[in-house]
Amino acid sequence: MDKDININVKVWRQKGPKAKGIFETYHLDAISGGTSFLEMLDILNERLISEGKEPVAFDNDCREGICGMCSLYINGHPHGPDNLITTCQLHMRHFKDGETITVEPWRSAAFPVIRDLMVDRQAFDKIIQAGGYTSVNTGGVPDANAIPISKLDADEAMDAASCIGCGACVAACKNGSAMLFVSAKVSQLALLPQGKVEAKARAKAMVAKMDELGFGNCTNTQACEMECPKGVSISNIARLNRQFLVAKFSD
Ligand code: SF4
Ligand code: FES
Repeated sequence: MDKDININVKVWRQKGPKAKGIFETYHLDAISGGTSFLEMLDILNERLISEGKEPVAFDNDCREGICGMCSLYINGHPHGPDNLITTCQLHMRHFKDGETITVEPWRSAAFPVIRDLMVDRQAFDKIIQAGGYTSVNTGGVPDANAIPISKLDADEAMDAASCIGCGACVAACKNGSAMLFVSAKVSQLALLPQGKVEAKARAKAMVAKMDELGFGNCTNTQACEMECPKGVSISNIARLNRQFLVAKFSD
């Protein structure tokens, strides 16, 4: 049975993109260890609303680790201190009684704060629009086994496709690099025959858009892989670099 804990929640409050933000600290009593982190914020917001105060704005949607919306920086870690989970999968049993928990939005020039803990991640959509698709007309749905794909390639493509576009890799990187995200989106297509057709153009277009939108260069520190809730490997970055160089020198 999970114990109840008393906590202080130190939350970043910012009224709008241009406003100056500050931390505000709230005390919450008797939070069950089985409460999810987002449910804890719901409890805080119910209290703030009942007191006539502004609730804390934060993003969320699926609350089951699929959509990538719950982008919170908790105690210095994207998605909190636990590994391989999103913020919505984090539970209060991971915190100590009496602990002060610091909650911030993603910090990246390419992800401006909209309000409080919500950031604008349209930059990721723009990178996908630049090339993260296949435009080849493939006709009707082929038989499942009509195109042979090796197990290794299929597994690697599926691992890359597990990226949920949350942005934790950018938030974890001291250069705000989006290389892990871009490399996952490039790899999930480039490893399969259907995606190979446009692989070179895709790598060039997505990297160019990433640079244009203000993401920094890869630091090689591996912080992105360490904090990725889906365990996306930096071997995808090596693949992207190879593809980009091949594309650049084959023009
Ligand atoms: S690579 Fe990982 S951390 Fe980066 S956007 Fe995808 S799921 Fe999130
Ligand atoms: S709310 Fe969808 S992944 Fe957390």
